[in-house]
Amino acid sequence: GDPVAEGNDDKQRQLDAYRVGSEGSRLTTDQGVRVDDTDNSLAAGERGPTLLEDFHFREKITRFDHERIPERVVHARGAGAYGYFHLYESLAEFTVADFLCDTSARTPVFVRFSTVAGSRGSADTVRDVRGFATKFYTRQGNYDLVGNNMPVFFIQDGVKFPDFVHAVKPEPHNEIPQAQSAHDTFWDFVQLQPEIMHMVMWLMSDRAIPRSFRMMQGFGVHTFRLVNAEGRGTFVKFHWRPVLGTHSLVWDEVLRIQGNDPDFNRRDLWESIERGAFPEWELGLQLVPEADEHSFDFDLLDATKIIPEEVVPVRVVGRMVLDRNPDNFFAETEQVAFHTANVVPGIDFTNDPLLQARNFSYLDTQLIRLGGPNFAQIPVNRPIAPVHNDQRDGYNQRIIHRGRTSYAPNSISGGCPMSGVLSGDMEGVFRHYQERVDGNKIRKRSPSFEDHYSQATLFWNSMSAWEKRHIVEAFLFELGHVERRYIKEQVVQRLANVDAGLAAQVAAGLGMPSPGATTPNHGRTSPALSQANSPRDSIA
Ligand code: HEM
Repeated sequence: GDPVAEGNDDKQRQLDAYRVGSEGSRLTTDQGVRVDDTDNSLAAGERGPTLLEDFHFREKITRFDHERIPERVVHARGAGAYGYFHLYESLAEFTVADFLCDTSARTPVFVRFSTVAGSRGSADTVRDVRGFATKFYTRQGNYDLVGNNMPVFFIQDGVKFPDFVHAVKPEPHNEIPQAQSAHDTFWDFVQLQPEIMHMVMWLMSDRAIPRSFRMMQGFGVHTFRLVNAEGRGTFVKFHWRPVLGTHSLVWDEVLRIQGNDPDFNRRDLWESIERGAFPEWELGLQLVPEADEHSFDFDLLDATKIIPEEVVPVRVVGRMVLDRNPDNFFAETEQVAFHTANVVPGIDFTNDPLLQARNFSYLDTQLIRLGGPNFAQIPVNRPIAPVHNDQRDGYNQRIIHRGRTSYAPNSISGGCPMSGVLSGDMEGVFRHYQERVDGNKIRKRSPSFEDHYSQATLFWNSMSAWEKRHIVEAFLFELGHVERRYIKEQVVQRLANVDAGLAAQVAAGLGMPSPGATTPNHGRTSPALSQANSPRDSIA
């Protein structure tokens, strides 16, 4: 047999310990008291008022009243599954991360796929980015690779994220429209923030309407860093490649499927796993030696850029299989908490300003979404690595910590958990990569982030004729829903910086004059900024 496939699934065993079935034959309250009748409330007389004394009624209704928690502020709609990851070749040359070094290990994972803009009950097959978030339950703690199905992002700096999301979500006054990109606010953001143009090209491509989660690529997007035993860093981009290949829907199908089966992608994932057609991805890495940090014509810290695979090939290093559906959507898929800052020894960050913002944002939002600081105790989030620390109390504390003390070092309780430095035992500790940083405190991005168009052009030029046709049609559909004419004009101007032919086709389809020749300004200043609040925002 295959020792990897037959290996023990530590996460599975851990979850089994939490499982509670509903198969018991005797109905009880939450306190374990048997209930006589759950169809008639306790009342004063056969036709009288309900009595406050009816603790079963009150418990049943209050529990119902409190069933909902806030949906995720983005990526609210999702579907998840468990599986495992294993490695083809040891990467010990680059990293001390145990799950990337031990080829005999079978690392349990939980993956959640999502759309970004829609609410929890929205349709699966909208034009949108798809989230592809993987939690690796490694022996050194949880590592989360919180990626998307597109390799670049809309903005370069996380401080713009609230503005971006507010522009993408339905408008605040009437919560219309549900569709991400078919509205004025989204395209207004586009015309005012040219750094978005590369991602907009991906969003208007067929990548934004995947046929199946099983047929989607995944990308870590940012440049991360691997760190080896000598403390040497190597830049890395993470890629997931679906074994079934990358496939999309076409727009006509999308429009029909949304009405017929809003659960199209979610159902496909569930059913394929139930029938044993387990989805698989290979993990690929683009590795860049530190010495080459400045050898590209873009900045490695700029999340609106890819590293072209012709320049740095993708090295395929392992495989992930999803082989088990969750037992309970809420407990597992809804309560799972991914966080870019959940890293293990041997994987570290870079100064990508988008990544730095994410490293703050996820924990912050989960503190409210999951009711306080103890959500790592929720079964799906619990590491299989042992957890020992002096963190205590807080909402939803489930652990009964023993002993008199919760501080370290202390001389009262023997055996208190001690940091590596305190105990002198540095085996397996997370050591932050010692990057030298020197600079003035300034709000100013490096000029190396200023070229917003070259890679958008690269993307367009890499498309086949029919892919280009789909992109033009997507622009026409989405911009066709925009009311303000000047927004459309400005977007077409931006497109002229990507490709004159593309801009001309979109302009013609919208019944607008072809944009004049433009000199790419690399988006440094947006001419439209000065017009943002001008009286020109009349409806076309
Ligand atoms: C959620 C990906 C940028 C804030 C998510 C999820 C994914 C994701 C996959 C869903 C996780 C899940 O399934 O539970 C990305 C990628 C980004 C990006 C690939 C850029 C490369 C950002 C930025 C911020 C942000 C810049 C904020 C500064 C959030 C928040 C959530 C979220 C608050 C909700 C988390 C929760 O409620 O558990 N993101 N995101 N994201 N993202 Fe991002």
